[in-house]
Amino acid sequence: MYLEEIFGLKGKVAVVTGGNRGIGQVVAEGLARAGAEVIILSRSGAEDTLKKISDAGSRGYHIKTDVTSEESVAEAFRQIVERSGSIDIVFNNAGICLHKDTLEASVEEFRRVVDVNLTGEYIVAREAGKIMMEKGIQGSIINMASMSGSIVNIPQWQCSYNASKAAVIHMTRSLAVEWAEYHIRVNSLSPGYIATPMSVDTPKELKEAWMPLIPMHRMGKPEELVPAVLYLASNASGYTSGSDVVVDGAYTCV
Ligand SMILES: NC(=O)c1ccc[n+]([C@@H]2O[C@H](COP(=O)([O-])OP(=O)(O)OC[C@H]3O[C@@H](n4cnc5c(N)ncnc54)[C@H](O)[C@@H]3O)[C@@H](O)[C@H]2O)c1
Repeated sequence: MYLEEIFGLKGKVAVVTGGNRGIGQVVAEGLARAGAEVIILSRSGAEDTLKKISDAGSRGYHIKTDVTSEESVAEAFRQIVERSGSIDIVFNNAGICLHKDTLEASVEEFRRVVDVNLTGEYIVAREAGKIMMEKGIQGSIINMASMSGSIVNIPQWQCSYNASKAAVIHMTRSLAVEWAEYHIRVNSLSPGYIATPMSVDTPKELKEAWMPLIPMHRMGKPEELVPAVLYLASNASGYTSGSDVVVDGAYTCV
């Protein structure tokens, strides 16, 4: 009862971008378990995630969306308001990573990473904030950053990704201050290496190089991010805004 009062999300409408797989899928299931209706915005279908949401005893649906397109995101949010009546929580998660030496990566590739990871999250947060303000919703926006926004990963070079995630952390702080008067909270989540399709497909040698650098000597599981998201999404974090919550097996401490 006590935990449900603080962390429970019954009656809340949550949006998860890139929720068709990886971290987004696991977090979508966690939000559903906590009682939220969960809408998945992704470029491809999300049948597996929708099944997990319904198995968790909640409701949800999918809207095909490209987060880099203002029109696509605005249309998705319009449909959500029409169908679900509110947008209380946004897990702004869609993202891509490029491992390439800077001089080998093209400017176009740099732009693409920034377009999805930073501008995409900006578009999603902006559309969500607009609706929250219009409807007087005291919402919570959780932007997906990364420990790469605070440290430089080695041995792989990923300048575009690191720069995009650092910008997400400061965009989060900027929106938190700008929207505080509307009681809209904006926080970011910075995971370390998490075992998902994004990282599981990385070459074995690279992962072997990472292990000694992680004080816990293992990658995290997507499930280990869910409690942090529930904290940021729920009443539990009512006085928390502009924070970057780091879940990285202590990587950034050394
Ligand atoms: N896996 C990790 O180790 C790790 C660590 C720190 C941060 N992250 C961040 O977590 C988020 C999710 O990563 P993941 O590991 O689950 O990766 P993933 O590749 O499994 O999932 C990324 C999701 O984003 C979606 N996406 C990409 N571009 C999109 C677009 N233009 N429009 C809509 N959806 C789009 C993909 O389709 C996919 O569903 C990313 O932002 C990533 O940077 C991941």
